Amino acid sequence: MSDENAFQVRIASSGALIEVSANDTLLDALAWHGITVPSSCEQGVCGTCLTGVLEGIPEHRDSYMTEAEHSANDRIAVCCSRSRTPLLVLDL
Ligand code: FES
Repeated sequence: MSDENAFQVRIASSGALIEVSANDTLLDALAWHGITVPSSCEQGVCGTCLTGVLEGIPEHRDSYMTEAEHSANDRIAVCCSRSRTPLLVLDL
């Protein structure tokens, strides 16, 4: 079992609402809905999967962005990061 929180993401371009369960990564949840975000390391180190955030506050888990970039809360590493808010709106 996982202690993670489930959350939802909305895809800005289509309005689609996607559930990210506690046991899934955001990257996987997107892929299962046909939205492929380029990824490489899937460990938060390469920055390949960075995706724009239009609303909501990510819970940053990557080690790629700087502290200042994390504080801006305008991009999320979808391979490993989650959400502090019930909903994130992604620039996809
Ligand atoms: S795939 Fe490397 S940071 Fe997400």
